[in-house]
Amino acid sequence: MAALYQISEVVKEKSGVKRLTLTDFRNYAYLRFEPEICPVIITGENGSGKTNILEAISFLTPGRGLRSAKMADIKRLTPALVEESYAKADKSYSWAVSADVVKNGEEFTLSTAVQKAQKEYENDLRTFDRRIVQIDGQKASTQAELGKYMSAVWVTPQMDRIFLGGPQPRRSFLDRIVYSFDIEHAKRTALFEHLYKEWLKLIKSGVKDNLWLLSLEDQMASTGVSIAAARREIIARLNTFIEKEPDDVFPNLRLELDGKIEQMLDQKPAIDVEDYYKESLYHSRHLILENEAAEGVNRTDFKVYFKKKNMPAELCSTGEQKSLLVSIILSQTKCQMLDKGFAPVLLLDEVTTHLDDIKKDALLHKICDLKLQAFMTSTDKDSFGVLKNDAQFFVLKNNQIFEN
Ligand SMILES: Nc1ncnc2c1ncn2[C@@H]1O[C@H](COP(=O)(O)OP(=O)(O)O)[C@@H](O)[C@H]1O
Ligand SMILES: [Mg+2]
Repeated sequence: MAALYQISEVVKEKSGVKRLTLTDFRNYAYLRFEPEICPVIITGENGSGKTNILEAISFLTPGRGLRSAKMADIKRLTPALVEESYAKADKSYSWAVSADVVKNGEEFTLSTAVQKAQKEYENDLRTFDRRIVQIDGQKASTQAELGKYMSAVWVTPQMDRIFLGGPQPRRSFLDRIVYSFDIEHAKRTALFEHLYKEWLKLIKSGVKDNLWLLSLEDQMASTGVSIAAARREIIARLNTFIEKEPDDVFPNLRLELDGKIEQMLDQKPAIDVEDYYKESLYHSRHLILENEAAEGVNRTDFKVYFKKKNMPAELCSTGEQKSLLVSIILSQTKCQMLDKGFAPVLLLDEVTTHLDDIKKDALLHKICDLKLQAFMTSTDKDSFGVLKNDAQFFVLKNNQIFEN
């Protein structure tokens, strides 16, 4: 519990979302929601729009949100109902999320929207979706700017299976953890993804532009090594924190990176790893033509071990896996509060599923003790009984939100 005391010394003021407005976002034509900075419980029937609210909040941070959705899928599908509130909304956007957020007592207005834009492409006028971000009414140069004002940590039901199956969702989870500590990481991963796509396209097109390929490989190697270095640094930091501050209820864990570039950084200076990486990309050009992925930071896996049992997470029970996931995000949140001096917003979608009553109540008490804003959803209000004096309760009905 030493961490809690230290956190209250470091984080003096509250951070979170004070107002959220959605326009043509999923099932919402128009929704205005003014939560307090405390645990916020959102209940409602299946399909009432609980996850959609959390997804909207996740768009106040860099990336594609908690569903990794395609921008076009978010635009509300049904034709607009004639509502007074809808008539007031700005319709030049395809969909929009706007919010007043507070970071350590200081207020900012963040908005993000997708606009229809047109571009001429090979003599053809094509329409595409463009995501724009504004901070206090000023257009931000990149989405990554959002990371300066708001941080969110989420757990969704899809993540219940994160330790099973392929590494991609684990790698995204890992990179989200890293950029919650180091906002430059969002730029690095976006840049790497862009370079990698360019590189693939060029190799597959058959254009033998060796200079261009070498230049892409050079940039991929240097960006890749900085991605690997950031991952190593943050995971080491988290492991040290977990070692020092083991949770009293949730399982103690050990985090590991399983990736060639990350491992090489154990033995060699970054500059040598970069040379190796560049060369290895050069030699994997032919693999791309065989539809295989090149080795590197785009293939790294994130391994989690249940320490006491020395068991890899993928071999743990469903409930244990959920507890491991909760354990990671609790440690990440506490460690982040200590390092960055402000609290992330927690987005916990149906988080109590698979947790036994002791763990469920412990989690709710721990969230309360951290004095942060946590949005939690469920179909059942009663499962949050222990928070009846500490949380705000809302219910969703007919695409509107009501306090209850
Ligand atoms: N683009 C969209 N336009 C309109 N409705 C949508 C869109 N995307 C999803 N929905 C609907 O929103 C509803 C609420 O979804 P969700 O928030 O996931 O519900 P839940 O409360 O179960 O978490 C669902 O009925 C879903 O079909
Ligand atoms: Mg849901």
